[in-house]
Amino acid sequence: MLRAFDFWKDAHMLTLQWTDSLLLDLPQMDDTHREFVALLDQVVNASDEKLLPLWQDLITHTDAHFAREDSWMKDTGFASSNCHTTQHQIVLQVMREGGKRGDRAIVRQMADELGMWFPQHAQAMDAALALHLRSVGNDPATGQVKLPESLPAQAIDRRGGSACSTENGLVQECAQA
Ligand SMILES: [Fe+2]
Ligand SMILES: [Fe+2]
Repeated sequence: MLRAFDFWKDAHMLTLQWTDSLLLDLPQMDDTHREFVALLDQVVNASDEKLLPLWQDLITHTDAHFAREDSWMKDTGFASSNCHTTQHQIVLQVMREGGKRGDRAIVRQMADELGMWFPQHAQAMDAALALHLRSVGNDPATGQVKLPESLPAQAIDRRGGSACSTENGLVQECAQA
């Protein structure tokens, strides 16, 4: 059930802290990412009593965070099944499973692994999305595309990488994007 987290296990366990290396020069995205890092830090440092409610807060925030990025992708020429959106779906599903189980040890492990996954995701997939949004003149606040002639002729499935075949393979390939 928790296999989707296997791809997070290679990195060393470190608590994620905000660093300007996470900035993507897109204020709406950067603000959300700062909030994500702050909420995750609260989860990592939570008492047993507060852990599960804070985890739910993080899920709610992450749901909106991913939905906003998915919407930007949908509005600027990405296929609905593109790798970035799929990665969002997998991560959110695993987070929800952890919340439903209510096992604090598992939630703490997920929080640690989420802290390792996030910089990779932000610096690869979110960075590629930010670049794409700028290239088509997208206004993230309104969704308006100022350079429609720059929209891709064909729907984008992924940015870089090769095949998207197996679940873990898909996530790893997507992370190369
Ligand atoms: Fe993001
Ligand atoms: Fe993302």
